[in-house]
Amino acid sequence: MANVVLDDVVKSFGDVVAVDHVNLEIEDGEFMALVGPSGCGKTTTLNMVAGLIELTSGTIAIGGKVVNDLDPKDRDIAMVFQNYALYPNKSVAENLAFPLQMRKVSKSDIEVRVKRAAEILSISHLLNRKPRQLSGGQQQRVALGRALVRDPKAFLMDEPLSNLDAMLRVQMRSELKRLHQQFSTTVIYVTHDQMEAMTMADRIAVMSGGVLQQVGTPDDIYNRPANTFVAGFVGSPAMNFLSGNVTTSNDETAIQGSGWTLPLSQRNISRVGGSTTSEVIVGARHTNLTVLPEDATSGLPARVYTIEPTGDLTFVHVWLGEQLVVASTPGTYHGVADQPIRLEFDQDRLYLFDAETKRAL
Ligand SMILES: Nc1ncnc2c1ncn2[C@@H]1O[C@H](COP(=O)(O)OP(=O)(O)OP(=O)(O)O)[C@@H](O)[C@H]1O
Ligand SMILES: [Mg+2]
Repeated sequence: MANVVLDDVVKSFGDVVAVDHVNLEIEDGEFMALVGPSGCGKTTTLNMVAGLIELTSGTIAIGGKVVNDLDPKDRDIAMVFQNYALYPNKSVAENLAFPLQMRKVSKSDIEVRVKRAAEILSISHLLNRKPRQLSGGQQQRVALGRALVRDPKAFLMDEPLSNLDAMLRVQMRSELKRLHQQFSTTVIYVTHDQMEAMTMADRIAVMSGGVLQQVGTPDDIYNRPANTFVAGFVGSPAMNFLSGNVTTSNDETAIQGSGWTLPLSQRNISRVGGSTTSEVIVGARHTNLTVLPEDATSGLPARVYTIEPTGDLTFVHVWLGEQLVVASTPGTYHGVADQPIRLEFDQDRLYLFDAETKRAL
């Protein structure tokens, strides 16, 4: 086990800066998820830690030792990729044993480690089968087992669950999490799935365009996003963003957008005071918007656009002035399109961003 430290790491491919001055410390035993949209530099970052590609500049240290010039095989890390290639002609047991044989581990030691990994992953009954006789999820577990038997300093995983169907992915998600709790080995886990990152990781590093946007616990990332990118990336449906100008009239401070005016609570008034311009972006998650009847005494006038029942929750898309926003209601909600309603913002759960810098206020 070891910590992994990226210090001012840059990787350019010609004109493309894939990883742009990234500083990140993954603590010993920590499960760090690296998330971001396609092309943001996640795989490139992971491959530099693995030693599969060279850095343009910066340093990477594993367990306190700079590894820039070390070959992948000398870094003592295990990788699990999206396309786990198992050896088709070897049995599950042989697949698990192979990396240990390559490392000249003794036969008796190999037996013990393979047995243990198989037990942990619930594949003991499959040890004599060939990969083609396994389901996708079972193959995935063998691939994990092959990494696990090695007892490496760190696991690097690049979208290891993305080939699985939705149900299996959710199941493997909790198994991986349990595995990590049992082993507390350092894990760097790349995914574009914010839900996977939120549910599994100790901390999340959010990347966009090669730049690290924020590093924090799932709670930090969800409740205290550093900027509009992070705020919009986590949560589903995505956070609503509304831009408007801070105005004060008759002692009331409000944000005014096209066709709506949102009065602010005292605390939110002091927050918008920190903005560099009078233009701010209001962020509201669907759970922090309440749909009220048209004759309610609070909330802003709005109009129903569409209604999406999903079972427990019903998503109500509404026009607020000239902007569409989504609110969630209990599944018992019954409304109709074009119906006038009022929309209440939870002032204690309002996200506010500087319109110019896009940073949280
Ligand atoms: N060998 C390469 N040559 C040129 N450009 C590359 C190379 N590898 C990656 N890139 C570019 O670097 C950027 C980051 O790529 P990377 O594979 O790290 O993204 P990613 O975050 O893993 O995306 P995805 O979620 O799609 O896997 C992209 O713009 C990509 O086109
Ligand atoms: Mg990738």
